[in-house]
Amino acid sequence: MTAKSVLVTGGAGYIGTHTMVELLASGYDVVCLDNFSNSSPEAIKRVEKIAGKRVTTVIGDVRDREVMSRVFKRPIDGVIHFAALKAVGESVARPVDYYGNNVGGTLALLDAMHERKVQRVVFSSSATVYGIPDKLPIAEDAAVRPVNPYGHTKAMVEQILRDWCDARAEHAAVSLRYFNPIGAHPSGAIGEDPHDVPNNLFPFITQVAVGKLDKLTVWGNDWPTLDGTGVRDYLHVMDLARGHVTALEYTFAHTGCATVNLGTGRATSVLQMIAAFEAASGKKIPYVIGPRRTGDIAACWANPSLAQQLLGWQAKQSIEQACADGWRWQQSNPNGYRS
Ligand code: NAD
Ligand code: UFG
Repeated sequence: MTAKSVLVTGGAGYIGTHTMVELLASGYDVVCLDNFSNSSPEAIKRVEKIAGKRVTTVIGDVRDREVMSRVFKRPIDGVIHFAALKAVGESVARPVDYYGNNVGGTLALLDAMHERKVQRVVFSSSATVYGIPDKLPIAEDAAVRPVNPYGHTKAMVEQILRDWCDARAEHAAVSLRYFNPIGAHPSGAIGEDPHDVPNNLFPFITQVAVGKLDKLTVWGNDWPTLDGTGVRDYLHVMDLARGHVTALEYTFAHTGCATVNLGTGRATSVLQMIAAFEAASGKKIPYVIGPRRTGDIAACWANPSLAQQLLGWQAKQSIEQACADGWRWQQSNPNGYRS
């Protein structure tokens, strides 16, 4: 039997690289489409090295019709769609770019899929669609109320995919609402590679540990949480990658649209994360307490039971493991893929 072929848009990025490793390990042929706006070709070379297999790489933009018709010339059985802009603050400053890339890019992709009768897609949504949650943990039936343009793009694409599935009985889509992905492949060869000073907690901590940044600022210790610092659901990126393979397999076996949280169901504060990282790395993380960050919420963690029920997926790895793996990546690549 010939291997199934999967198009991974944005495959050179943080979550895309880890997912391509899992896809190759599961026997899929992988076609990666990326414009390298937030990644580098070196990331794909590392994926190939880990997997011991080749990735067919197309350099280009999902919104470019010519590129897309070239991509879909080969047989594609399903698509995992990561390509998007993802910085919340930037989305407030440049909303048109965000709607254009994230929503416009998805429409261009669905158009190209339609022409070639490709009927299965897994989409990177985000827990950010929930905005400020009414109750915790957050299940999929919670209100969808994004609070910034980035979150709106994710909610809009979810709606587009529901309509796309309603339009044709053969269509299958899974929107995955990720909580907070952290860590790296255990080899330390691929990981998160922010181009500027990181906004997110985990890469900020690893860059302090490796000496690129002096200290961490903890954004507020007066939140209504166990120790006053923000609480999140941190998920090992390899668990998340496996979640994509399971979701893709679900689209091969089912039609219709599913929307599923991918999280651990565990709540971790900023101070707990610092302690876990210090224990895993043996490095002290100097920090100061700062004011609350604009737009932050106190706490956000998943009810992950639908993922278990529908996809048979559960997060397996601990935060300690994610810290050890993320630290290995940062130590071996202090300047990311430019190291
Ligand atoms: P990333 O920036 O590392 O990866 C995105 C990739 O898409 C990059 O390689 C970039 O070059 C590429 N890209 C962007 N626009 C493109 C376009 N128009 N055409 C072709 N390629 C394009 O981000 P990531 O952290 O790997 O996130 C992947 C997806 O998951 C995104 O859709 C993001 O919104 C979503 N997500 C991420 C997080 C997170 O915390 N990392 C959380 C929830 C959801
Ligand atoms: N934090 C700090 N100092 C920092 C960075 C973060 O104290 O330098 C705190 C935040 O205040 C928050 C926690 O660490 O309490 C996590 O913050 P992140 O920025 O790592 O993650 P967020 O949950 O705020 O946001 C992330 C992505 C969003 C996505 C959301 C849900 O950045 O794009 O997860 O998936 F929408």
